[in-house]
Amino acid sequence: MAKERKFPEGLTFGDVLLKPRYSSVLPNEVELCSRFSTNIGLNFPIISSAMDTVTEKEMAIALALQGGLGIIHKNMSIEKQAAQVRKVKRYESVFISDPVTVFPSDTIGKLMELMEHYNISGVPVVDKEKKIQGIVTKRDIIFEEDRSKFIRKVMTPRKALITGRDGISLDEVKDILRKHRVEKLPLVDKEGRLTGLITLRDILKRKEFPEANIDEEGKLYCGAAVGVSPDTAERAQELLKAGADCIVIDTAHGYTKKVFDVAKRLRKICSSDLVVGNIATGDAARGLLKLDVDAIKVGVGPGSICTTRVISGIGVPQLSAILEVSDAVKEQTPVIADGGIIYSGDITKAFAAGADSVMIGSLLAGTDEAPGEQVILEGRRFKVYRGMGSIDAMKQGSKDRYFQTGKLVPEGVVARVPYKGPVSEVLFQLAGGVRSGMGYVGATTIKELKGKAEFIRVTSAGLRESHPHDVKITKEPPNYEI
Ligand code: XMP
Repeated sequence: MAKERKFPEGLTFGDVLLKPRYSSVLPNEVELCSRFSTNIGLNFPIISSAMDTVTEKEMAIALALQGGLGIIHKNMSIEKQAAQVRKVKRYESVFISDPVTVFPSDTIGKLMELMEHYNISGVPVVDKEKKIQGIVTKRDIIFEEDRSKFIRKVMTPRKALITGRDGISLDEVKDILRKHRVEKLPLVDKEGRLTGLITLRDILKRKEFPEANIDEEGKLYCGAAVGVSPDTAERAQELLKAGADCIVIDTAHGYTKKVFDVAKRLRKICSSDLVVGNIATGDAARGLLKLDVDAIKVGVGPGSICTTRVISGIGVPQLSAILEVSDAVKEQTPVIADGGIIYSGDITKAFAAGADSVMIGSLLAGTDEAPGEQVILEGRRFKVYRGMGSIDAMKQGSKDRYFQTGKLVPEGVVARVPYKGPVSEVLFQLAGGVRSGMGYVGATTIKELKGKAEFIRVTSAGLRESHPHDVKITKEPPNYEI
């Protein structure tokens, strides 16, 4: 008689629903803050994928401004990736601790180049000992045609300069800016040496984005990906120098000797948080915990552009993977659910299953902030979205994500997604869905959701019933794609 074999069941988002519970929580009372890793909190627990059609500086800035986090992909040279990180870190900082400076003997031509490169409108002027000599702004040079003219001729000189003392409070700064009607305030120490710069533009930005995810210096948080190639340690070091708040070892199979070896090495040199992935089992999670990682990324094959499961036969349906990993880590380290999010409801389910944040590719790839141009096809607008395991992306640098050398075997596809406009709109809809879900369960916080959530399995008839059915949709809502 044939031996009876039992297979464990693997479920994903579409296989389940969360049961509604008695609730006194309204969606707008829900708090969406969470944690990404040991030292990085989130006001909005959505992370953009480290993919070359999803996250470069524009996406990382937009995500962090909304309270989330972007992970800059690594399909570019070390220098370029570090420059991207630097730009995110420089984007918003009420207290700029290392402002760009010029000497009085520099020319207007050089100043113009710096202003354009860093997208800044004013630069403190210092001497060789960093003692403040003045300030020069766009307004001072707007009608100057002679690019060889020295800055000392056009700057606001030291004696007419309004400065703040090192360590000044934000309220004092606002008073000074208001009183003297200036837009930039250089900070100086007792010896008159420049220690920082505060700009009105940054203060206003802070007001516009109260949920922005910022570090102690008021700079936006930014993460960056590395792989497992020979230059990984050098890449990580340059990214750290550029200010990356976390290094994410981004691979298709994190439970491997190679990834563990790299993680051990980076753990020694990494002053920022170290995140490792991807994994999909409790064993792998327990292994990573021993390496003292700062967060674990979960997901083998759930991504919209992934072919890993079909070409290799490997994977764990994403909801089961999140449940198993979360059970294994027991809150000792944050869990990032990476891939497979199709609807905002899937995010609620991921949190309910134990995730602390979700990483998203396809839903963000069609936005203005994703790299790449729009393409128009039959009158509709799209953007290109490709797997990091597609041939094109692997040729660009991501083949180590799949441990490949030589002739390539793709584990992802090149695709297109509908153009969606600014990412803030997409994030608003995603947040709204999660808020609603938490309201149905009666959970004010993600932690409460984890405790209260009760999943129920649905059949294929139940799934059909869950979506609009037996009608012809005539107006597609912004949070549901047909
Ligand atoms: P979504 O579903 O949000 O998934 O589009 C994004 C995640 O998919 C992973 N990824 C891949 N996985 N082959 C894979 O097996 C690929 O080519 C590929 N590219 C990206 C990655 O974890 C990403 O965050």
